[in-house]
Amino acid sequence: MENFRNLLTIFFFFSLSLLYTCLFPCVDSISTVGFHDQLRQHAGSRTVALRTKPEKYLRLRVGAPFKIALFADLHFGEDAWTDWGPRQDVNSIRVMSNVLSYETPDFVVYLGDVITANNIAVANASLYWDLAISPTRARGIPWATVFGNHDDAAFEWPMEWFSPPGIPRLRCPVSNSSCLGEEECSFRGTSRLDLIKNEIKHNELSHSRNGPKELWPSVSNYVLNLTSPEDTNSPVVFLYFLDSGGGSYPQVISSAQAEWFNSTTRMINPDSRVPEIIFWHIPSTAYKKVAPVFGIHKPCVGSINRERVAAQEAETGIMKLLVERPSVKAVFVGHNHGLDWCCPYKQLWLCFARHTGYGGYGGWPRGARILEITQKPFSLRSWIRMEDGRVHSEVVLTP
Ligand SMILES: *[C@@H]1O[C@H](CO)[C@@H](O)[C@H](O)[C@H]1NC(C)=O
Ligand SMILES: *[C@@H]1O[C@H](CO)[C@@H](O)[C@H](O)[C@H]1NC(C)=O
Ligand SMILES: *[C@@H]1O[C@H](CO)[C@@H](O)[C@H](O)[C@H]1NC(C)=O
Ligand SMILES: *[C@@H]1O[C@H](CO)[C@@H](O)[C@H](O)[C@H]1NC(C)=O
Repeated sequence: MENFRNLLTIFFFFSLSLLYTCLFPCVDSISTVGFHDQLRQHAGSRTVALRTKPEKYLRLRVGAPFKIALFADLHFGEDAWTDWGPRQDVNSIRVMSNVLSYETPDFVVYLGDVITANNIAVANASLYWDLAISPTRARGIPWATVFGNHDDAAFEWPMEWFSPPGIPRLRCPVSNSSCLGEEECSFRGTSRLDLIKNEIKHNELSHSRNGPKELWPSVSNYVLNLTSPEDTNSPVVFLYFLDSGGGSYPQVISSAQAEWFNSTTRMINPDSRVPEIIFWHIPSTAYKKVAPVFGIHKPCVGSINRERVAAQEAETGIMKLLVERPSVKAVFVGHNHGLDWCCPYKQLWLCFARHTGYGGYGGWPRGARILEITQKPFSLRSWIRMEDGRVHSEVVLTP
């Protein structure tokens, strides 16, 4: 056991150092992070009175559209015991950095599966979570995150660890809490709450929330205001984030979450006057109804249609609520790496993002879906920006 722990420790630090030594020369912008952070901390330490967090809302700039980049399925922390794994994280950082440079968005949404926790043999997966948000933070761009099905999954022992000569046959006694401290031994996955609390605590630019307690274990349930430039009490659009489960519990948006959506929308947008945009990770079953069969044809817009929709396990009412609200313009999900289309469904659009990370299955070229919102008149436009700069699949999601 002791040997194995040493081995693990070595693997871990080896892969981390690989990651960092590779990161600095590869991604020049990252090397400025420390400097900016120091700057900000320095500035912060002088304004001691500003300990209370500033009010969290997003605001359009005068005369400018508001641009959001969706980073979906980054899958950081994959196969950290090989040199393949850390290389994928470096590649994913490059994708994000390129997209951020081409688009200079106002906001970033991390659309779930930020990390592959079932590969992470570390007690605190925040380390990888933090790495995944570093390119956005480095540029001073605010962001929000939602959970996918891999983010809080328990570590799964790779089969190859049990077979090759030289590596002892080992099994972690998952149920034995007296063994070397339960955490290190079983790597049960860092909980959604720990991940998000750590993110919020350490990042002023994070707009992520824990969501209402009564909805836990589904955590990323919250709404953000994007307000007009002139009046922060005048919302231009509400951005809803919902936790579609997976990992430590079933892949579903529960009826309790649907009820929360119902009561929240009725409270803050009773007459459906303000447009609403929805983000979660796993497509709902409604996506199956609109999925194009061969290729992608009008009215759908996209470039890859290479898989079946891997939908949530059940539909408990959220879609019914969404289609009844004329204010709901579109739903954006990740999860399927081989799909990047948008298709209309009743009065709204159902869209996939684009696989952004080098982690996770599939070798389709990486990119990010971009959303652009204008206020007067309200419009929502979207396209996909590839890591090599190419733009395609532009679509207008408002009538
Ligand atoms: C987990 O790691 C993050 C940094 O990645 C750190 O800020 C946090 O304090 C750690 N939490 C625990 C419980 O060790
Ligand atoms: C846990 O492991 C210890 C040491 O191997 C053993 O003595 C103990 O009986 C185990 N406890 C359980 C509940 O399996
Ligand atoms: C939504 O809320 C309204 C008002 O409270 C209620 O009448 C309606 O039944 C709710 N709908 C669902 C699907 O829960
Ligand atoms: C967000 O919008 C709601 C509804 O208009 C409003 O009550 C609330 O004050 C706004 N919050 C912020 C932080 O602007």
